[in-house]
Amino acid sequence: FNVPMPLNEPVKGYAPNSPERLELIKMLKELKQQERDLPMHIGGQEVRTGRRLPLSPPHDYQHVLAHFHEGDAGHVTQAIDAALAARPAWAALAWEQRAAIFLKAADLLAGPYRARLNAATMLGQSKNAFQAEIDAACELIDFFRFNVAFMQELYGQQPNSSPGMWNRLEHRPLEGFVFALTPFNFTSIAANLPASAAMMGNVVVWKPAYPQIYSAQVLMELFKEAGVPDGVINLIYVDGPVAGDVIFKHRDFAGIHFTGSTKVFQTIWQEIGQNIARYKSYPRIVGETGGKDFILAHPSAHAKAVAVAITRGAFEYQGQKCSAASRVYLPSNLADEILGYVKEDLATIKMGDVEDFGNFVNAVITEASFDKLARYIDGAHADPDAEVFAGGTYDKSKGYFVAPTLIVAKDPKYVTMCDELFGPVVTVHVYDAEQFEAALDLVDGTSPYALTGAIFSQDRYAIDLASQRLVNAAGNFYINDKPTGAVVGQQPFGGARASGTNDKAGSILNLLRWVSPRTIKETF
Ligand code: SER
Repeated sequence: FNVPMPLNEPVKGYAPNSPERLELIKMLKELKQQERDLPMHIGGQEVRTGRRLPLSPPHDYQHVLAHFHEGDAGHVTQAIDAALAARPAWAALAWEQRAAIFLKAADLLAGPYRARLNAATMLGQSKNAFQAEIDAACELIDFFRFNVAFMQELYGQQPNSSPGMWNRLEHRPLEGFVFALTPFNFTSIAANLPASAAMMGNVVVWKPAYPQIYSAQVLMELFKEAGVPDGVINLIYVDGPVAGDVIFKHRDFAGIHFTGSTKVFQTIWQEIGQNIARYKSYPRIVGETGGKDFILAHPSAHAKAVAVAITRGAFEYQGQKCSAASRVYLPSNLADEILGYVKEDLATIKMGDVEDFGNFVNAVITEASFDKLARYIDGAHADPDAEVFAGGTYDKSKGYFVAPTLIVAKDPKYVTMCDELFGPVVTVHVYDAEQFEAALDLVDGTSPYALTGAIFSQDRYAIDLASQRLVNAAGNFYINDKPTGAVVGQQPFGGARASGTNDKAGSILNLLRWVSPRTIKETF
């Protein structure tokens, strides 16, 4: 048995009249014509509670795509029971058998499921075709295939032996169940959090963020068709604190795989701490949380490259990637040139629904997010120390549209340089080009987060200095590239400080968190 290291799934281009574009258009139409009824999935059963809540595209909130059945604390207990019932058989299954299921899931997604999962991501999460393709198709296929290769590597790691004895490591699944609490912004992350734990032999209770439920349903169908047995991944739609109250008090709670806000993660950590004596084992706490990701240009930077990185890094998927650039430091010698390029780029960008493939920017995820962004933009308009250089408008008459907005702030600690906004708003501070080292201190000291960051420079000494001074400022550090778009198997993703436990999604490090090795020594 030997799984070769896979190649990354090629990204389809969706050019006008290409077969993939025509198929996607057909699928979008088909999905929009149905109003789906989405049950929870517990122990392989579809569970309908009668408490039906609507799901709408953020760019067209009057259109109802589906209703989902919300559950309560009783359903959480049911899901835990179903997971624990499935555990003995799943944990005992040879890892090659588990691997085969996820390799099949990758193939199904590369083929028949691709258009449907992309279309569901586009409609449910307001992601354009290109952003859906790199997420729901390519990144998720890569997660499945690379994780299988990493599984092989992990299970193969064995200690030394000597004549008269044989030592071995048995990478057992955790004793209990894993809770996957997943975000709206990447369908691939939402799928990988339950899947990577399950691949290692664990059983999972999965609670997606509500705006991702529409694509989560397609993922559940994909898992089933690939052969994930009933009860191994249980999908529940329950209010977070209600679910947490049952899960974090349960004796068999073995770990959480989380992506979401810092505040929620800290609350969860405290809750786990308060209940620590209840558990059979110390639970694994694995989380990716907030970010305030930076771009820093050195006076030697290539101005056009910095401008492209700002436009793409800050505004693709409406700035709602955890990796999105949201604070930018430009040297005084280049600032006007770079800002000029960004303004030119933004003038060509179109905003609107996902069905017009020409729209680069779509809607932000919820009304709450829209309102929060509008408040910060109003604040910048009213503040004489902040210049709204581009964008600065918003409109929620049909969908939650916020124009890509660039604020130039005199104060490097201006509120939008510091707060996590999670939307298409980026703030620029222009520093004295003679004071690069002071700019490094600003980058490092302004935010408690440390997820991604980028330095642009053509001066190797400056790159080296930045790499050293910013050693803890980003878990993913980019040199002369935008801070978004990590590729599985190439740039393992995650950050430290307030950004998470840095257990690099799509790497052997992450899979290690979902096993509990037993050392066996046998003498002859
Ligand atoms: N992995 C994504 C990126 O790098 C963010 O979650 O953009």
